[in-house]
Amino acid sequence: MATGSLYRFGVSLEKELIDRFDEAITQRKYANRSEAIRDLIRDSLVQRQWAENDEVAGAITLLYDHHAHGLSARLMHIEHDFTNVIVSSQHIHLDHDNCLEIVAVKGRARRVRKLSCTLKAIKGIKHVTLNTTATGRTLK
Ligand code: NI
Repeated sequence: MATGSLYRFGVSLEKELIDRFDEAITQRKYANRSEAIRDLIRDSLVQRQWAENDEVAGAITLLYDHHAHGLSARLMHIEHDFTNVIVSSQHIHLDHDNCLEIVAVKGRARRVRKLSCTLKAIKGIKHVTLNTTATGRTLK
């Protein structure tokens, strides 16, 4: 396949499976099957990049109570140890007690996961998520 050109291929599937797929893509408002399949392929390529410790990107969200003893200092200490993968972070004061922090990350998948796990393990942190995506260089 030449770069930038479209390549068509046929796929044989059980009727029940394609019916369920069509139902799912209708609910998700895809224009057609091709769009839905493209997304699935991209998702699987991104997952593979994470599994193979490639250069990836993503965002870690943290929810915590800034009154929790020593938590803010511990958090900052860890973030300073991971400057090789942290691109930026945004702190949002949700209310009097709760803080939401969004940490944009880019780097080797294993290092990013290590950061996410280290943050998750901080005592007093209420919730941590890791959103996994790619750097975009290898995805069309
Ligand atoms: Ni805050």
